[in-house]
Amino acid sequence: MTVRRPAPAGLPADLYGKRRRDRAIRVFDAVAQTRFRWTELVNRRAPAGRVDDRRLALTVAERRVEAHDTDVISLSLVAPDGRELPGWRPGAHLDLELPSGRLRQYSLCGDPADRRSYRIAVRRIPDGGGGSLEVHEALPVGARVTVRGPRNAFPFVPPGYGSDTARVRFVAGGIGITPILPMMRMADRLGVDWSMIYTGRGRDAIPFLDEVERFGDRVVVRTDDAHGLPTAADLLGDLRPGTALYCCGPVPMTAAVAAGVRDVPEVELHSERFSAPPVLDGRPFTVELARTGEIVEVPADRSALDRILAVRPDTAYSCRQGFCRTCRVRVLAGEVEHRDTVLTPDERAAGDMLVCVSRCGGDHLVLDL
Ligand code: FES
Repeated sequence: MTVRRPAPAGLPADLYGKRRRDRAIRVFDAVAQTRFRWTELVNRRAPAGRVDDRRLALTVAERRVEAHDTDVISLSLVAPDGRELPGWRPGAHLDLELPSGRLRQYSLCGDPADRRSYRIAVRRIPDGGGGSLEVHEALPVGARVTVRGPRNAFPFVPPGYGSDTARVRFVAGGIGITPILPMMRMADRLGVDWSMIYTGRGRDAIPFLDEVERFGDRVVVRTDDAHGLPTAADLLGDLRPGTALYCCGPVPMTAAVAAGVRDVPEVELHSERFSAPPVLDGRPFTVELARTGEIVEVPADRSALDRILAVRPDTAYSCRQGFCRTCRVRVLAGEVEHRDTVLTPDERAAGDMLVCVSRCGGDHLVLDL
């Protein structure tokens, strides 16, 4: 039997502990839905808009190479006057406003007890839309950068402190280690029974290897060059009933984990991804850009944002998962099938739509673009 203890300071309040666990909560068909669900819960708990609206001007105090292939760097961000920064919990992220105007989200991977600095890590992705390249090339030590947050869409709820599970398994792929690192430290500090499987192309490409391997036998490092591409069974290992599984990494990895846990009873899956979710149950439709008259075809398995970017590459976006609002546009005609959980009823009634996830309820939308 799991004994529920009161949440100590710094831990998230009970999100799921008062709920009966059922299969629909334990296993989510689409990994992205996990994030939406959590986002909705977190947003309900905070005064509306308070954290979203908070902007901080910070300075890059330190840059470090975190993977031997040099593709991952970490940045430590501090207030110019050295003052304390708003607190955060494992799983939280910052929205970074880059000098070009791009907005990108990065998980906080430092120590929540350090109230004077935030640490983020960024992998260089040459064809990833430019955000990561800009961080690598345009944010030297001393650069000023504006951030929003921290916000938490992937909260860690340890066994005994809100989760009825008995143990925790972390599964991370490459840069997906960033939200997991603070969770590992917290689990270890609390004396939780935890273990981890960490995967990547090779040891040269895996960030924070030294920090992770300090935990010894709790961690299994598995690399593609030494062991081959991991199967779902490799990623899940000896997963037992009564486990909370926290997973973050590339889409194929999170999808394999989500599919694999279906065969294991009594598993809570919590997952964060860093790319757009697959479109489920989509129907094709067309989008008309009202200001130019262009017509864009949106296939059943693509998002409206994807197709709009093909003709208007400067269209603003960030998370591509329906929680940051960056891609919000005004709908001038047509019925919207809203698939986000952040727009308010008033915003929807006013005609707002998040084109990265929401779709057309009919055949044709006219957007104020
Ligand atoms: S890009 Fe973030 S909500 Fe659409």
